[in-house]
Formats: sequence, structure tokens, C-alpha cells
Amino acid sequence: MEALDLETLVPAYALQLCRDVLHSEDHAMLRQAKEQHALDLDEAQLREGVQRAVLAELEHPWNQLFEDVSTDKAKKLSRSERDSKGIHSASYVYGEISFASFGLVFFNHLKDLKPGGVFYDLGSGSGRGVFAAAALHQFRKLVGIEALEGLYQASQVVLHKFVTESLHRRLIAHNTADPQCIPEISFFQSDFLEYDWSDGDLIFANSTW
Ligand SMILES: C[S@@+](CC[C@H](N)C(=O)[O-])C[C@H]1O[C@@H](n2cnc3c(N)ncnc32)[C@H](O)[C@@H]1O
Repeated sequence: MEALDLETLVPAYALQLCRDVLHSEDHAMLRQAKEQHALDLDEAQLREGVQRAVLAELEHPWNQLFEDVSTDKAKKLSRSERDSKGIHSASYVYGEISFASFGLVFFNHLKDLKPGGVFYDLGSGSGRGVFAAAALHQFRKLVGIEALEGLYQASQVVLHKFVTESLHRRLIAHNTADPQCIPEISFFQSDFLEYDWSDGDLIFANSTW
């Protein structure tokens, strides 16, 4: 496959256009993008190229959000709380998504989503899934549910950084006509087996049950 980067395809600021291409079932639009840029690609290759460009563009601000809550730190929080509370279930073993792999799975579901839906991460850890979903689609509401207090507190730290340090602009501006309009993001310390998440349009659960 021909190497594609965002600048080849569209100007670097045009993530909104990329999002339209990803959502689009409009074959004329895809054809036009190919012709305009003389790309010798079929539709699937074009979509894949745009997906990779979008992920590459958003990964850095997403990583910045978690500067104070590294994977290592989250693993230690989880381990010490499980040890002190005598929790031995494999369902609580900690691990995290990478932005790229989450994105590639997520893009498979884009065509089923309309702007304004509700996203849940069941077992949200430090919140990586919630903020990746916020970056990749215009959800109205995103909720993370995490049983362990230390991880729940860590996700609150990340949420505070998201709201106060303007990172939301870089992460979600392309998703909304009004960059000031931040989706409703919340985390709850709860057992997701006892939480009502039936209003969810997309439910995510990583390595837990
Ligand atoms: C593999 S981690 C995934 C973290 C995050 N979703 C991610 O992908 O980056 C699974 C998380 O689910 C939590 N968990 C497991 N069972 C749970 C339950 N019944 N209710 C809430 N959280 C749970 C664990 O504490 C752990 O933080």
C-alpha cells in the first residue's frame, strides 16, 4: 500500500474532513478525494490511510493527558489495592489500551454511530478508553465505571487535566462545530455488574467480565 500521511491527503488541520470521510458512505466523496490527490488506492485503502492519519494526529494530545498517570503508576495503584483488600479475581488484573489499537477497533463501529450517543467503559481504569472514545467520535456523554478506588481517583485527576488545560480543544475540536462544547464525561466508583448502563450506544470492556 502506498504510504499516506495526513499532509498528502488533506491539510493537517482538516481532521473534520477526515472524520467525514471515515463516516461517509458517500462513494462520490471518496472518489473525489482520490482524484484530487492522484491517489492510486481503492476505497478500503483510502479509509485505512485516513484512519491511520487521524490516529497519528490525536495520539500525542491523548498521551499528554496521562502524563501524571502512567501505565506503571496505574498498575501499582491496582496491585496495592487488590493486595490490601484481598481481591484475587483475574477480572481485576490491570492492563490498558493503546490509542492505536483502540482506534482501529473503534473505527469498525463508526458506521453504526450517530453524533450524540453515549459511551461506557466497563472497568475504566485510569480512563484511557473514555478519552480515546471522546477524541474519536462526537459522543454526548461518556462514562467510565471502575471498582477500585485508587484507579477511580486517578481517572478524576485525568478528567481535571482534560477540562482545565485546554487539552480538550486539541482532542475533540474536530468532533464538534463548537470547540467550547465539551461532552459530558464522568467516572463512577462502582461494580459495573450493579450499574445501569442500558442507555449506552457503545459499550467497551477490556479484558474484564
Ligand atoms: C484490563 S483493565 C482495563 C482498563 C481500561 N478500560 C483500559 O482498557 O485502558 C480492567 C479494569 O476493570 C476493572 N474491573 C474489573 N471488574 C470490575 C467490575 N465488576 N466493576 C468495575 N470495574 C471492574 C479492574 O479494576 C480494571 O481496572
